[in-house]
Amino acid sequence: MSIIDKAIAAITPLESDEARAKARAKAEKVAQPGDWLSQILTHHQKIEAQFAAVKATNDPASRRAEQQRLGLLLTAHSLAEEAAVYPALAADNQVGHAELAYQEQSAAKMEMGLLERVDPMSQDYIDKLEHIEGAVAHHIYSEEGTWFTKLAESASPEDLALVTARYSEEFARYMGNHP
Ligand SMILES: [Fe+2]
Repeated sequence: MSIIDKAIAAITPLESDEARAKARAKAEKVAQPGDWLSQILTHHQKIEAQFAAVKATNDPASRRAEQQRLGLLLTAHSLAEEAAVYPALAADNQVGHAELAYQEQSAAKMEMGLLERVDPMSQDYIDKLEHIEGAVAHHIYSEEGTWFTKLAESASPEDLALVTARYSEEFARYMGNHP
């Protein structure tokens, strides 16, 4: 871990697994089958599983291949949120949350790019990957526990239908029509 990574890790509050499970349960309660939030919850779980898939590899080629899959999934998911959901947050009295959400995702994109420059079998690589995983988990916790549940409860059904349509459309640009 670089000095900057360590400093970020030190100031990033890490929630307990229990707190994360609570946030997810809260979001699952307000999600409707097939809507933007239920799609996002599925994608968050895919992202979590893909971090584990990268770590589970034992050779450079498969590690890079799983890392590429993680990068693609993160890009698809984050761009879809940036196009569809964060503007809706801003329109629904959550401008500060929207700004923070964009900022955190930009930082994750930069870190994923830097990860491509690190020897995949080194300890440095694992440290960096786990740092990104922690930052993404914290971001997901904020979305599920606060930002998105608030949005789901207060925006109009018409606005939320637009968010659903736009999120699906943007995600499919990268991933096709996979759930
Ligand atoms: Fe997300």
